[in-house]
Amino acid sequence: MLIRAEGISKSFGPKDVLVNVSFHIDDNDRIGLVGPNGAGKTTLLKMIMGEVRPDCGDLTIRTNKIVHLSQFPSFDSDATVNEAIQDEGPRSEEQKRIEELEAIMTSGELPPGMDWNDISMEYAMLQEKLVAADKSGAERALDHLKTFGIDDRTDGRVSELSGGEKAKVHLSKILAQAEKADLLILDEPTNHLDIDAVEWLEEYLLDFKGAVVIVSHDRYFLDKTVTQVFELESGKLRRYGGNYSQFVDKKAMELERQRKEYERNARERERQARIADEQHRALWFSSTHKTRLKMLERMEVKEAPDKKKDLNIEISAAQKAGRNMVIAKSSRWRAAAAPCSRTWSWRSIPGTSWASSDRTVRARRPW
Ligand SMILES: Nc1ncnc2c1ncn2[C@@H]1O[C@H](COP(=O)(O)OP(=O)(O)OP(=O)(O)O)[C@@H](O)[C@H]1O
Ligand SMILES: [Mg+2]
Repeated sequence: MLIRAEGISKSFGPKDVLVNVSFHIDDNDRIGLVGPNGAGKTTLLKMIMGEVRPDCGDLTIRTNKIVHLSQFPSFDSDATVNEAIQDEGPRSEEQKRIEELEAIMTSGELPPGMDWNDISMEYAMLQEKLVAADKSGAERALDHLKTFGIDDRTDGRVSELSGGEKAKVHLSKILAQAEKADLLILDEPTNHLDIDAVEWLEEYLLDFKGAVVIVSHDRYFLDKTVTQVFELESGKLRRYGGNYSQFVDKKAMELERQRKEYERNARERERQARIADEQHRALWFSSTHKTRLKMLERMEVKEAPDKKKDLNIEISAAQKAGRNMVIAKSSRWRAAAAPCSRTWSWRSIPGTSWASSDRTVRARRPW
C-alpha cells in the first residue's frame, strides 16, 4: 500500500472541493483520475504529494519516491534546453550543504569540531556526487529527447520552442527522474503531444514498474494505460474497475438505474398522494386517511440522477474525403434522442445538410 486516505475533506473558502473522500493506491496500480474542470483533481494530487493538507481525515503516505509531471510546466524563460533538463530534485539537500560549506570558506570561521581538511574533503566529495547525479539524470533526459527527435535543440532556449516541443522537454526531464520512483503522477500528460509521442508514452507506462496516477481528458490514452478509474465529482470520489470506456459504460448503466428508480419513486408518491386526496374528500377524519398521509410523509424521496451534460461533438476533417461528414446510427441514440430532439442544435459549415431517418442522423457537406 502506497497511499491510504480515510474520510478526507478539503474546502477553499466556501467551496467544498473534497467531501469525506476515501481511497487507496497500491503498488503497481494504474489509476485514471477523471472529473470536470475544477472538480479537485489537481488538489487531490497535491495532497498525495504532501503539498496540500486535508482539512480533516487521515492521509497515510508510504512512498519512497513520487515523481510528478505537473499540469503547467514552469521553465526559467532564459534557460536553454540543456539547463532545463538538469535533474534538480535529488541534489537539493546536497546542494544546500555545498552552499553552507562555501559560506564557511568565504567567512574563514571554522565551525566547532571541524578543521579545514574536513571541510575541503566534504566539499570535494559532494561536488563529485553532484556531477555524477547530474550526468545520469540529464543523460537519461537527453535519451528521451533523442526519441522525440529534438535532441538537436539542446543549446536553444526553452522559450523559443513550440508548445509541443516544450511538453516533450518537460516530459523528458520528469521521466528521467522516474527511474526509481514507486509512484508516478501525470497531470494531463498528453496535452500538446503529437500522436507518436503519445504512443511512446503509452509504451513507457506499460513498462513502468511503480504505480501510476493519470489525470487526463484523453479517453483513448486512458483506455490504453489504466485499469481503474477514480471519478471526482461534486466533492465525492468513486472508484470504477476497468479502463475508461468500461467506466463510461458502467456510469451510463448506473445513471439509467438511478433514473428508473427516481421515476418509480415519483410515480408511487403521486399515486399515494392521489389516493390520500380522494380519501380526504370522502373520509377526511378516518384513521385510514391519516395512516396514508403518514405513509406519504415517511416515503423516501429519491434524488434525481445528475442531469446529463450537453454532448458536444467536434468533427474536423484532415483532408477532403467523401461528402458524408457524420453518420450516427444507433438504437440507443434514437431512444435518447426522442425526449430531447427538439432542443438539439447542430452548428455546422453553411450549406451542410442534416437529415434524420429512423435510426440514423446524417450530415452531408456542400461540396
Ligand atoms: N489554493 C487555492 N485557493 C483557492 N481555491 C483553490 C485553490 N486551489 C484550488 N482551488 C479551487 O479548487 C477547485 C478545484 O481546483 P483543482 O485545480 O483541483 O481542479 P481540477 O479538477 O484539477 O481542474 P482542471 O480540470 O481544470 O485542471 C477550483 O474551484 C479551484 O479554483
Ligand atoms: Mg487540474
